[in-house]
Amino acid sequence: MNELKVKKDFTDIYTQDSPYEYLKEMDRLGYSISDSTKPLYNAIIDELENTLSRPINILDLGSSYGINSSLMKYDLTMSELNDFFLSKPEPTKKETKLFYKKCTSNNNLNFYQIDISKEALKFSEEMDLCERGMNVDLEAEKLNLLGSFPKIDLVIATGCIGYIGYKAFANILKVIKNRQDNSIKSKKEYTAPIFAFSVLRMFDMDDIEEVFETYDYYLVKSDIKPIIQRGFSDSKEKEQTISLLHEMGIDTKKYEDDCNFYANFYIAKSKK
Ligand SMILES: C[S@@+](CC[C@H](N)C(=O)[O-])C[C@H]1O[C@@H](n2cnc3c(N)ncnc32)[C@H](O)[C@@H]1O
Repeated sequence: MNELKVKKDFTDIYTQDSPYEYLKEMDRLGYSISDSTKPLYNAIIDELENTLSRPINILDLGSSYGINSSLMKYDLTMSELNDFFLSKPEPTKKETKLFYKKCTSNNNLNFYQIDISKEALKFSEEMDLCERGMNVDLEAEKLNLLGSFPKIDLVIATGCIGYIGYKAFANILKVIKNRQDNSIKSKKEYTAPIFAFSVLRMFDMDDIEEVFETYDYYLVKSDIKPIIQRGFSDSKEKEQTISLLHEMGIDTKKYEDDCNFYANFYIAKSKK
């Protein structure tokens, strides 16, 4: 996506063996969106738990070091994660394992994670933040994910649309359609997962909306106010983002003018 060009490149901190550098930079930039999306995902999980009465399988796209899982499965906040990882010298793997072990884990949530960073997934798996990590490029053409993950109830993605877009959703939705078709053939009940994800206001949603429509999903923008993702890293990032938003006809007065990226929250449900 062209809009990505105005954002700072963080590739080097996505691919370290530990989340230390990632959290350090995100803390500097006031990255807070994962705290804000947590209750939105949890509200959907509450509904699913009421109807399914069994553990909920969550697929986290662009999961990085299992940030959503740390917050949701281990009920942590970004500030608690930052306190642990950043307030002393970088913790060892052993100390990190102990840290998570001491947290209360919600065994009703099973996380499956996809990320292009094998290092981030390895960390997440080693710390028991997920059942399994899948190291693929979600944007790859002809990506075959069939059989890569179990039945999923909820697909989430925080702060990573832009890196991944309509191709990633098409790759996941292809698997779901296949499962829907098989269930009809075999007369077994199958409930397609709900999707919930944040999208920065500067990203055009046309292609993503089209993909969900093609796969018979309703996609709606939640009516909650835009949420802060993080602060701009410098004045260039701020100026370029604001001018891009203005070109798109989006008023930034109540939002990005305060020096932060803002995101909308989307939910998609199958029509079938
Ligand atoms: C902003 S970070 C993730 C934030 C994380 N979800 C959180 O809540 O803190 C974006 C993630 O997307 C991953 N990513 C980028 N391009 C990708 C692709 N093509 N396929 C899969 N993952 C990708 C990066 O490795 C990185 O971990």
